[in-house]
Amino acid sequence: MNKPILAQTEHFTKDVEARIERDFTPRRVAPDSPSRREELLRAADGADALFISPVDRLDAEFFRRVPASVKVIATFSVGYDHIDLRAAAGRKIALANTPGVLTDATADLAMLLLLGASRRAYESEQLLRTGAWAKTSSARLLGWQPTGKVLGILGMGRIGQAVALRARSLGMKIHYSNRNPLSQELAGDAVFHESPLHLLRVSQFLSLHAPHTPETHHFLNAQTIALLPAGAIVINSARGGLLEDEALIAALKTGRVAAAGLDVFEGEPNINPEYVQLQNTFLLPHIGSATLETNSAMGMLALDNIDAVLAGVPAPSLVKLPADKSLA
Ligand code: DGY
Repeated sequence: MNKPILAQTEHFTKDVEARIERDFTPRRVAPDSPSRREELLRAADGADALFISPVDRLDAEFFRRVPASVKVIATFSVGYDHIDLRAAAGRKIALANTPGVLTDATADLAMLLLLGASRRAYESEQLLRTGAWAKTSSARLLGWQPTGKVLGILGMGRIGQAVALRARSLGMKIHYSNRNPLSQELAGDAVFHESPLHLLRVSQFLSLHAPHTPETHHFLNAQTIALLPAGAIVINSARGGLLEDEALIAALKTGRVAAAGLDVFEGEPNINPEYVQLQNTFLLPHIGSATLETNSAMGMLALDNIDAVLAGVPAPSLVKLPADKSLA
């Protein structure tokens, strides 16, 4: 029997690649190809499924051109702001993401950002690596202690809750804002703020975990940064578009925001170059889910979804697509 054709734009972990080789006829687009999108469209010709990542922007134009053979697209991410859902619905293509399996890895990474920013990890490491430590007696860089401080969490889904769990072990007080308050059992002693703006007023540390949507775009900007306590620390491991780079950079320059830990950037991998010039930033290249175990679990879940859609059975994690008005 012919195996289904799968077009993919990334290299996955060995176990995931082995399963692809076993169950599919793979068509691989080189991840660093400058014409990755065109190559994906070419590889999609006659393909049953696409396996993509957030680097692939699937907009309305993409969905106009994607061949009719494609029945399902799986993204190697929980976030799907890189995909035009309405256009996917218009083409009746199922879309799957990878929720749940990357919660711990991403929450760990948020804590790395929180500690890296607050303990001035970049400056300290630089001091050591450049040999300056040996040359000065005043090399101790004083950071900011999380103990007893308020950590404001914007977006209290799975990852936000896992961050709260970890931050409690540092002795932090948890406040959060979310579309709906958590049940008492899940919230524990976390304080709910119906208004995200009220959350900002108390957040000595702020960690962003909301999806990037038109409503949350540039949530953190000059006006909202002004609501934070002076010297707040900002953490973003969700999506770069949640904050306005120029406003954050201006606040980091004056110390209005003492430090920032960032793993995601608007327009990444091309980031605002001023971030790299600043000493009070701790910057990582979008590695929230990047552990061997988590990448394996994400790949396996994506393939489970593809298998299910192609077999016509319920898939474990399909993204709900909006109703397609053009077909009504
Ligand atoms: C996700 O899964 O959305 C992570 O940010 C990786 O892109």
